[in-house]
Amino acid sequence: MNSSTPGARPIAIIGGTGPAGMGLALRWARAGETVIIGSRDSKRAEQAAATIQQRVGPDAGISGMENSAACAAADILMLTIPFEGQAALLKQLKPAMTEGSILIDATVPLAASLGGRASRTLGVWQGSAAQQAAELVPKGVSVVAAFHNVSAELLNGDAPLDCDVIVCSDDPDAAQLTQELASKIAGVRAIDGGKLENARIIEQITALLIGMNIRHKGHAGIRITGLPSSAYR
Ligand SMILES: NC(=O)c1ccc[n+]([C@@H]2O[C@H](COP(=O)([O-])OP(=O)(O)OC[C@H]3O[C@@H](n4cnc5c(N)ncnc54)[C@H](OP(=O)(O)O)[C@@H]3O)[C@@H](O)[C@H]2O)c1
Repeated sequence: MNSSTPGARPIAIIGGTGPAGMGLALRWARAGETVIIGSRDSKRAEQAAATIQQRVGPDAGISGMENSAACAAADILMLTIPFEGQAALLKQLKPAMTEGSILIDATVPLAASLGGRASRTLGVWQGSAAQQAAELVPKGVSVVAAFHNVSAELLNGDAPLDCDVIVCSDDPDAAQLTQELASKIAGVRAIDGGKLENARIIEQITALLIGMNIRHKGHAGIRITGLPSSAYR
């Protein structure tokens, strides 16, 4: 994949109208990134983009498009949709994805998506939602798992965050670019979490955090300690 630094390259947030996608769009638009909000409905995407523009200001590089158009217009794709829609949407978007793109997946396979408890995860045949995504994207598209353990509520606020983002991928260049994007969010440190198969673990941590949020009425995140400073971006 093309490992040039983000900034000039637009980021398409697929399913970007929900809290997770809107929060990332807000933070990246504030950091000067060009962001395209994707939705199944182009009008909803445009409205979401207008909301971000209002908060960031007239110079924000933000627009809204239907998901396939957003996908075709960018080679950094951020997927923020519920697990139950992941497979069908990726199959639909496959023709719009270009070789060399990276797909950053934040999907958590929560039992709530099939009527169960939000603090439990579903077993995914491939091992994790991110590995399922890797099976569904075209050849030449790298999948990265990241942003599972960041509270959307806090992302949509104005204060710096107090959390780390663990990044897992089998493509080191794609992982590095994702770490750069994560570190553009004030207060976030990005850490290389190894291979994509480790996504299973970071997806599970989200269920634990949701349980803690319910129990303690908060917006939990995680911090990893004890690594040399070179491990944190
Ligand atoms: N919320 C959090 O704090 C948080 C934190 C970390 C990770 N995550 C994960 O990130 C993902 C998104 O979270 P969220 O809270 O933003 O979710 P959400 O609000 O339930 O959904 C996000 C967007 O996905 C689209 N969508 C919904 N169902 C769909 C389907 N069946 N097929 C295609 N698109 C669909 C909708 O956009 P349109 O209707 O406009 O298409 C919706 O606005 C989830 O997998 C979640 O587990 C969430």
